Amino acid sequence: MRSTMSRRNWLKTSALLTGGASLLPGAFTTASANPLMLSSDTNTFHFREEEFALDVPKLKARLFANENPFGPSEKAKKAIQEALSTSYQYPFMMLRELGQKIADYEGVKAEQIMLSSGSSPILHGAALLFSRNGGNVISADPTYDDLLEKAEAIGAQVIKVPLTKEYKLDLDEMEKRVNDKTSLVYICNPNNPTATVVDTARLKAFCERVSQKTTIFIDEAYIDYLDNPRESSMMETMKKGKNIIIARTFSKLYGFAGLRVGYAVTSEDLVKKLSPYTVSWAGISATSGSAALVSYNDKEFLADALKKTIASKEYLYSVLKKEGYEYIPSSANFVMFPVNMDAERFTDEMMKRGVGVRPWQFAGKQWCRVSIGRMDEMQAFAEAFKQIS
Ligand SMILES: Cc1ncc(COP(=O)(O)O)c(C=O)c1O
Repeated sequence: MRSTMSRRNWLKTSALLTGGASLLPGAFTTASANPLMLSSDTNTFHFREEEFALDVPKLKARLFANENPFGPSEKAKKAIQEALSTSYQYPFMMLRELGQKIADYEGVKAEQIMLSSGSSPILHGAALLFSRNGGNVISADPTYDDLLEKAEAIGAQVIKVPLTKEYKLDLDEMEKRVNDKTSLVYICNPNNPTATVVDTARLKAFCERVSQKTTIFIDEAYIDYLDNPRESSMMETMKKGKNIIIARTFSKLYGFAGLRVGYAVTSEDLVKKLSPYTVSWAGISATSGSAALVSYNDKEFLADALKKTIASKEYLYSVLKKEGYEYIPSSANFVMFPVNMDAERFTDEMMKRGVGVRPWQFAGKQWCRVSIGRMDEMQAFAEAFKQIS
């Protein structure tokens, strides 16, 4: 049985939600002439005419891309407006300041930070760097498949290890699968699409052992949703000189998905090795950079966005429970629950009612992944859900 719906296929079916092909992370419309860059097939999302023609009402709830509708902050919006008048200038100084700010907070050198337009280019760069000579990439199933799809397209073998019974990463099994051809291990923690986290001590021990054999890529896109992001992060383990790349993004709790700011923290050596394969800071606009600069570690805004996310999530849990549904307890801004019909049909039915969610198939079940939105969006979800559950 197919364990996940590929990102590309899903985007095909969900194009009508956005009314356009290139609104989602990673969507490009042209292929690069650079032979090291990805093929047009991997880099382009194709849409069938009839998909645009489907009669779908205007979306009442956009709950399919794990965005944060409580952001960006007012400070960020103001900074964007102020940056406009000087935006004829390249944002060298501003981005240098942003990199330094992140480095200071994390207790690393500025040379250990790679800024990027969202974390996607870092994932793509890592796929290029670590798959260009073949080998294998080890990961979980299901997980965020962007890096893995690129790695496979470039020529690596992708080894996917099913999640445990609790829908968490099976670190023991992943470690067993590492061999002398393994060029990268991709860990997404909290994991997308299940929103589960692995025990921090176990992950640290795993990283200490496995990073002696190969590079580990830790995707911490959703780390800000945890109660204790600093303690749960693998940053300290990386700082001990381990062979680890940590990817972070402003797209989630900071509410920057459309602004495109992310970064990697790793060794100076790995920053140098990754550099030829990413556009790095050159992809960040002055407006987005200035917004990131005022938003980084804005504790008040982050706490407020988290509080609103938790309130919407609690409401969603109560709706699911009331309708007799189970769900995977979530450590992020999305919730996965099994549905009692074909997942794609479920998604289509929700979409007809103006609610965008995402279908999944794994562990022999059909699932819906619903992102956490504003309360009015969760209510729209509840209304549509009650009609078809
Ligand atoms: C786990 C994970 N990593 C990375 C990304 C890429 O996000 P961005 O490029 O917006 O930083 C996403 C986006 O949904 C994600 O879920």
